[in-house]
Amino acid sequence: MPVDEILKELGAIKNRALRSIAMVRGIKGLESARVRYLGKKGQLTSLMRVVGGLPPDARPLAGQTANSVKGAILQAIAEKETELKAAEQESRIVEERVDITMPGADYQIGRKHPLTLVTEEILRVFCSMGFGVAEGPDIESDYNNFEALNIPKHHPARDLHDTFYVSKDVVLRTHTSPVQIRTMLATPPPVAVVCPGRVYRCDADATHSPMFHQVEGLMVDKAISFSDLKGILEVFVHEMFGPDTPFRFRPHYFPFTEPSCELDILFHGEGEPNGEGVWLEVLGAGMVHPAVFENVGYDPQKVSGFAFGLGVERLAMIKYGISDIRLFFENDLRFLQQF
Ligand code: PHE
Repeated sequence: MPVDEILKELGAIKNRALRSIAMVRGIKGLESARVRYLGKKGQLTSLMRVVGGLPPDARPLAGQTANSVKGAILQAIAEKETELKAAEQESRIVEERVDITMPGADYQIGRKHPLTLVTEEILRVFCSMGFGVAEGPDIESDYNNFEALNIPKHHPARDLHDTFYVSKDVVLRTHTSPVQIRTMLATPPPVAVVCPGRVYRCDADATHSPMFHQVEGLMVDKAISFSDLKGILEVFVHEMFGPDTPFRFRPHYFPFTEPSCELDILFHGEGEPNGEGVWLEVLGAGMVHPAVFENVGYDPQKVSGFAFGLGVERLAMIKYGISDIRLFFENDLRFLQQF
C-alpha cells in the first residue's frame, strides 16, 4: 500500500471515528466505537500494522500521522465519557429528587382507654399499700358467685343482681367477689389482694351497662379491724380524688360482710345544685362475714378481715365528669381521644 493512500485512509478513519463518537448516546455505544477503531482488530489498529511494514523512509511520516489520529480518537473518547457520566449523574439527581416540603405520612398512635387508666390508677394506690393483684374468670360457678358468699338460692339479694345464667349452676359473674373465694381457697391467711375484672348484670341505661368493671379488695389477717378498712379507704379516696375530699361511711347490707357500709365522697362539679356539693356513693365494703370464712376453711375465731368492691365506670364518671356510661363502650374516637 503506497504511503499517500495510507495517509488518506488515516484521515478518513479519523473523520469517521470522531463523527461516530460524537453521535454516541451511552457508555455501551462508546465502548463499541472504541473497539471498532482501537480494538485488536479495529480499523486504526489494522492500518497501523500496515504502517509497521512500510520501508524505513516512508515509516516516520505515516507513523506520526497514525499516532496523532490515535491520540485524537482517545481524546474524543475521554471527553465523551466525561460528558456521558455528567449527564447520567444529572438525570439521577432529577429522578431521585425527594420533595422535603411534602407533608409526612401521618399515622395515629393508640392510647389507653379511660377505664384502663382508672383501673391502673386504682391498682397503683392499693399496690403501693402492699396489696397484690388477683384475677378470676368471667364465667363463674353459682357456688363461687353466690353460695360461698353467703347468698343461698332464693335469698332476696339474688334479685338485685339480674344474673345472666350460662346454665343452672354457671353464671356470668355479677361481681368480683368470687375472686375473694378463689383467693382464700388457694392461699392460707394472711392475704391482701385487689381483683380487677369484668362483671355482668342484665341491666342497661345511662348509668348501667350489662358489662362493667369492678375492683374487689380483700385483706385478712389476725386482728384486722374496721379502722384498718377506714384507714386504707381514706388513703384511696385522697389519692384518687384529691387530699381534701370529704368522705363518709353509711351503714348498708351485704350478705358476705357484717357490718357492711357504703362509702360516699362529697363531690363538687357539674350538675351539682347549690355549691355545697353532693354525696356520691363510690363503693361497698364491710368486715368479712364469719360464714364466708367457714366456707373457705378459714377459722373466724383466729382471723378477721375486710372486703370492698368498687365500680370502675362509676369512679371514672365521677373523676372525669361523664354522665352517660355508654360513652365508654361506643368507641367514638372523639370521646376516647380526650384522655
Ligand atoms: N360485691 C358487691 C357488689 O358488687 C360489693 C362489695 C364487695 C361489698 C365486697 C362488700 C364487700 O355490689
